[in-house]
Order: sequence, then structure tokens, then C-alpha cells
Amino acid sequence: MTERACPEGHLGGVERPEGALGGVDRPDSSPDQGLHREPERDGLLAVDGLSITHDDGELVDDVSFRIAQGERVGLIGASGSGKSLTASAIMGLLPDGLAASGSVTLRGRQLLGAPERELSRLRGKDLGMVFQEPMTALNPAMRIGRQVAEALTIHGTARRRAADRARELLDRVGLPERTARAYPHELSGGQRQRVLLTIALANDPALLICDEPTTALDVTVQAQVLDLVAEGVRDRGTSLLFITHDLAVIASVCERVLVCRDGRLVEEGPVRAVLSDPEHDYTRRLVEAAL
Ligand SMILES: Nc1ncnc2c1ncn2[C@@H]1O[C@H](COP(=O)(O)OP(=O)(O)O)[C@@H](O)[C@H]1O
Ligand SMILES: [Mg+2]
Repeated sequence: MTERACPEGHLGGVERPEGALGGVDRPDSSPDQGLHREPERDGLLAVDGLSITHDDGELVDDVSFRIAQGERVGLIGASGSGKSLTASAIMGLLPDGLAASGSVTLRGRQLLGAPERELSRLRGKDLGMVFQEPMTALNPAMRIGRQVAEALTIHGTARRRAADRARELLDRVGLPERTARAYPHELSGGQRQRVLLTIALANDPALLICDEPTTALDVTVQAQVLDLVAEGVRDRGTSLLFITHDLAVIASVCERVLVCRDGRLVEEGPVRAVLSDPEHDYTRRLVEAAL
């Protein structure tokens, strides 16, 4: 894997949605210290030597990276390169038949092999997640307001307070008041994805993982949802792992990018540097294909 110096902690001249990405307030992230090289000081998530195997062999091979508090990191790579499996391993949601080895720690706490009870406490509270297909992640038979409220009550908010808070949170992602009483099928794809983002951020998680959250949406709607993701994590100081095959999306949301190929990380660095001057042939081809 190539290590780059980390000349800047923000996105300099890269185009990004207006107003969506003011700098995250991180007074201790001085530019030349390279966040990913000082994990012991401000690391939130540390993935070390993560491998994921099944009977036929290795699907993810010795992947290591860090995400600092409040940092927004993109994970790119062609379809099948191991992005989703990496995210699933972090969340303790690997499909049956796959085994993970190595280490995944969140604030120093080992997640790999942790008991399911502990992981389900973490999911939705410390780890928020948004996937590509919002319909399958929502309960079709439950009103939206109740689903958001449940995300809060499961993690300790009083029922009465949760209903009010759910309405506030839905309003914050620009959904009209009537949304709370609607069922998932009554909403558009973009609205459903706003609901999932609301649920994912409801408990102010330390880390939000988004896996291709806008891939199924129209381009204009994609931009709105991306703005909301960026705004949501910025407002809360949440760290972000954003998975996509779309390099333009990475440029608009992330500060740093990891490039995954055939289950390995082949390059990482500040988004602007990697996209404008990729060191690895594979990254260069991804960038060229996106132009
Ligand atoms: N449950 C599974 N069993 C066996 N192989 C799997 C399973 N899930 C994913 N894979 C394989 O692992 C590789 C990485 O998959 P994935 O992480 O979903 O890729 P990406 O998200 O980058 O498109 C692919 O070759 C895929 O076919
Ligand atoms: Mg995937």
C-alpha cells in the first residue's frame, strides 16, 4: 500500500456542494501530522490486518486503515473489490459462511469476535449505517415516525420524548411533517433514504458507514442526499466511512480516500491528491473511467 504525506486536512479546490461541507472543527488535526499516522492520539476506528475468508479463499486480504474523530473517509473500488464486506465486518454483520480475522477496534474496543449482544448495542448507537436499498432496511408495515422513534427508544430515550424527537429529526432532513405518519411505500426513494439517514444519525453515532447510499437514486436527488450526509456528520462531528464506486461523490463528501482492489487496499491519501495524481495504475484507471 502506498502511503502519502497528508498535506491538507480539507478539500481545497475540489468542487463540492455549496454550504454542505464547512470544515469540521478539529483543532488538533494539524495538517502535517497526517491523521492516519497518529491513530493512538485521535483514532476512532482502527482496522488492522482485516482478512475475510470463505471456503474458496480470501475475499478481503490484510486491510488496514484508521479513521480519526470527525474524519470523512471514502472507500472506492470496482464492484466486487471487497468494499461492502469490509463494512459488514466492521459492523459485525458478515454473511454466514464468511470468517473475519485481524482486528477492528472502535475507541480501542475490539469488535471482531465481540458477542452479538454487545454488537447490537453498538449498532445504531455508536455505529450508524445507511445502505443502498432503503426499502429493505425499513419496516413496510410501520409508520415512519415510529421507526425513527424506535431507533431512539431501543437505545434508552423515553418513549414520549422519542416521538417528538423523531419529528424534529425528520424535519432536519427536510421531510414534511406528514412524513411521520406515512408508511415507507408512500415515500420516494430519496425520501426513504433521508429517513434511513435520520435513523442512522438519531443517536449521534461516533461513526456513520454509508454503503452506496445514493447509487439507486436519480442524479438530482443524489446530490440532495449527499448534502444531507455531509451536513449530518459535520453538525455532529461524526466520523464517516463512505463507500462508493463514484469518484465524484467521494470528492464532494470525503477528505481522505482508500482505494480497494481485489480485496486489498492499493492506495490511500487526501482525496484531492489521489484523484488528481493517482500513484497506482488501478486508481488511475478508475479516475480515467470516471472522466
Ligand atoms: N456471502 C458471500 N459468500 C461468498 N462470497 C461473497 C459473499 N459476499 C460477497 N462475496 C464475494 O466477495 C467479493 C467482495 O464482495 P463485496 O464486498 O460485496 O464487493 P463490493 O462491495 O466492493 O462490490 C466479491 O467477489 C463477492 O462475490
Ligand atoms: Mg458493495
